[in-house]
Amino acid sequence: MTPLLEVSNLSRVYDVRRGAWPFGRRATLHAVDGVSFELAAGRTLGLVGESGCGKTTTAKLVLGLVPPSGGEVRVAGESLPEIGSPSWRALRRRMQMVYQDPLGALDRRLSVGRQVMEPLAIHGLGKAAERRDKALAMLDAVGLAPHHFDRFPHELSGGQRQRIVLARALMLDPQLLVCDEPISALDVSIQAQVVNLLLALQQRLGLAYLFISHDLRMVRQVSHEVAVMYLGRIVERGDPDQLFSAPAHPYTQALVSAIPTHIRHKRRRLVLPGEPPNPVDRPAGCAFHPRCRHAIARCRVETPELRTLADGRRAACHLAGQIG
Ligand SMILES: Nc1ncnc2c1ncn2[C@@H]1O[C@H](COP(=O)(O)OP(=O)(O)OP(=O)(O)O)[C@@H](O)[C@H]1O
Ligand code: SF4
Ligand SMILES: [Mg+2]
Repeated sequence: MTPLLEVSNLSRVYDVRRGAWPFGRRATLHAVDGVSFELAAGRTLGLVGESGCGKTTTAKLVLGLVPPSGGEVRVAGESLPEIGSPSWRALRRRMQMVYQDPLGALDRRLSVGRQVMEPLAIHGLGKAAERRDKALAMLDAVGLAPHHFDRFPHELSGGQRQRIVLARALMLDPQLLVCDEPISALDVSIQAQVVNLLLALQQRLGLAYLFISHDLRMVRQVSHEVAVMYLGRIVERGDPDQLFSAPAHPYTQALVSAIPTHIRHKRRRLVLPGEPPNPVDRPAGCAFHPRCRHAIARCRVETPELRTLADGRRAACHLAGQIG
């Protein structure tokens, strides 16, 4: 069966200035560099990696919010149309984004009801009464009450606001939600509620999720597959339990060992030992080699491809399968 989403060799480069303006030399930054994955309807792909590794850029490329420098995104077998074209707008209805900061995603001056109905209004769908009925049904689906319809974003809690963002995203009956850090701005006490809601909605509506998060425990809980990114590339992909319990790539091993053992020590950002990578100065060979305790001479000159190991996992490391 054709996957809902097929991403092949996707890349995005940016021209940046190395050093302070106006003296810095121009350089090319590879934000996303040859990323490939598939996502089936009703499934979740978790995307993890340190800050700046290219997660949000990948999400924007998938939605066609930024044009790729190379590669392709296919949705239900069709190539993503040109950004801004009528067929792109039609396809975009099937793919919605949920951002980290619900307050930033909402308009403080507009009532909850108007904002939830907005996607239907933008696409000219339904009569006023139908829009209202659907918005009330969506508020119910995300666990809010009818009286929230006339409230304003600042009158609600962070968790309630993220529910409104979800209700609005669901108004056009999407098949894919791209969730970029959907819970990291929420209090720890309500993160689990929002995650449980996402899981319930997936069960009920058959939604596929591209789920980006720094919270590896949460990613393990919600994902059917996990992809680990480092400097714009996927370095490991596989079953969440296998990947987190016995990571094959030294970078995944370092990420997993950095997972805080107690909720009180939970960090917003993953912090690993070693010099943080500069995407403009991508190291030759394996980009992880300056931080890798297993690095051998070959790692400095030869870039490892993502390859399938004997147990079915995929890792981009010359020594994957030999080191634990
Ligand atoms: N418009 C842009 N112009 C130049 N560089 C950009 C642009 N957008 C992103 N980048 C760079 O691309 C790289 C990847 O950025 P991206 O936002 O995708 O990272 P991320 O993995 O989402 O990080 P975070 O976890 O902090 O959200 C970073 O080095 C970033 O500085
Ligand atoms: S290829 Fe070499 S440097 Fe890269 S992760 Fe594997 S062992 Fe480490
Ligand atoms: Mg990001």
